[in-house]
Amino acid sequence: MVRTLGVAVVGFGWMGRVHTQAYVRLPHHFPQLTVRPELIAVADEVPGRAEEAAERYGFATAARDWHEIAADPRIRAVSVAAPNFLHREIGTAMARAGKHIWIEKPVGLTADDARAVAAAVAEAGVQGAVGFNYRNAPAVQTARAMIAAGEIGTVTHARIRLFSDYAAHPEAALTWRYERARGGSGVLGDLASHGVDLARFLLGEIDALIADTAVFVPERARPAGATAGHTRATGGEPGPVENEDYVSCLLRFASGARGVLEACRVSVGEQNTYGFEIHGTKGAVHWDFRRMGELGVSRGTAYQDQPVSTVYVGPGHGEYGAFQPGAANSMGYDDLKVIEAYHFLRSIAEGTAHGATLDDAVRSATVLDAMARSAERGAWVSPA
Ligand SMILES: NC(=O)c1ccc[n+]([C@@H]2O[C@H](COP(=O)([O-])OP(=O)(O)OC[C@H]3O[C@@H](n4cnc5c(N)ncnc54)[C@H](O)[C@@H]3O)[C@@H](O)[C@H]2O)c1
Repeated sequence: MVRTLGVAVVGFGWMGRVHTQAYVRLPHHFPQLTVRPELIAVADEVPGRAEEAAERYGFATAARDWHEIAADPRIRAVSVAAPNFLHREIGTAMARAGKHIWIEKPVGLTADDARAVAAAVAEAGVQGAVGFNYRNAPAVQTARAMIAAGEIGTVTHARIRLFSDYAAHPEAALTWRYERARGGSGVLGDLASHGVDLARFLLGEIDALIADTAVFVPERARPAGATAGHTRATGGEPGPVENEDYVSCLLRFASGARGVLEACRVSVGEQNTYGFEIHGTKGAVHWDFRRMGELGVSRGTAYQDQPVSTVYVGPGHGEYGAFQPGAANSMGYDDLKVIEAYHFLRSIAEGTAHGATLDDAVRSATVLDAMARSAERGAWVSPA
């Protein structure tokens, strides 16, 4: 029997919209789910933004103040898609109010914030899903299965990279993302958090690391009014960028494998250049988000001159079959969020976690804190 589950979204910028669309599309792609989301409320502090979202997507209620959502007994699950500095306060309040949460990465400003949200979720006995969407790509799921099955031998080394130009324009507005108080770290929390999750998902825990960070655009223009996403502020009064644009990091995995992670938000000529190359004693796998349905695979017993072939993901690879009937039909970014919503609602229906959880967020944030510590000290550190 299918039952409805009242859901709400807090923060209606880019992620608020994507979570909402994922809830709406969920029954189209995953009709087997025994719970079906019902859009009850949306909250955003910018006047009119929640009302507009309610009208467009069909939420029953719109609010300026997220506390109204915490107090609403019709709401059983909440998407937390507000800026990072609000994750801890909103995440813990929603969990304490008995609501399941689907919260965006990096879950707060520091690992301490992520731990506080994880503790509130555990104490309340609710489900907590986290927005590490790239692990949901069918090709990434396939790479993980191949590595776990030993198809590339023992993993020796890996490169993980996340390059973007979203902050490359000198007139990109000084939004919450560039402030310590509201964004926390810079590219560490914004992009490297995804890289750390992919590294852990594919290769296991990280034992030690050494990192270097840099700010390449030290000043930006203050926006005149409310912002969403990556807006411009042409002619605005300049203010300081308080967190890093770039990080490079050497990783030692508990398995003994070595890795290199590099992330940058000001890379001219790079748009969503997110991916990895993983090498083993007998083969290799590589993936690029921009060609999300392709997995480069080299396997066999040749060692030298061993060819690389392209596997186009299809039904049977991860959740691909919920979207397309045959291999090599493209999926998109938003589809990864539909898969995330599926994991979240399935966790609620079954009372067992599926997909990335707050434990993953805590572990990722602990590694990111270690990268910041290492960059400050110029030394190898262990995530603790
Ligand atoms: N998983 C991903 O791939 C991914 C991508 C982008 C952003 N994110 C994460 O999602 C979160 C939001 O990012 P975004 O790009 O959507 O940001 P955004 O700036 O586009 O949207 C944030 C929204 O929150 C609203 N807001 C601010 N204070 C609020 C409050 N007190 N109550 C209610 N709403 C409030 C803002 O008005 C805005 O509409 C961040 O934590 C970010 O790290 C994740």
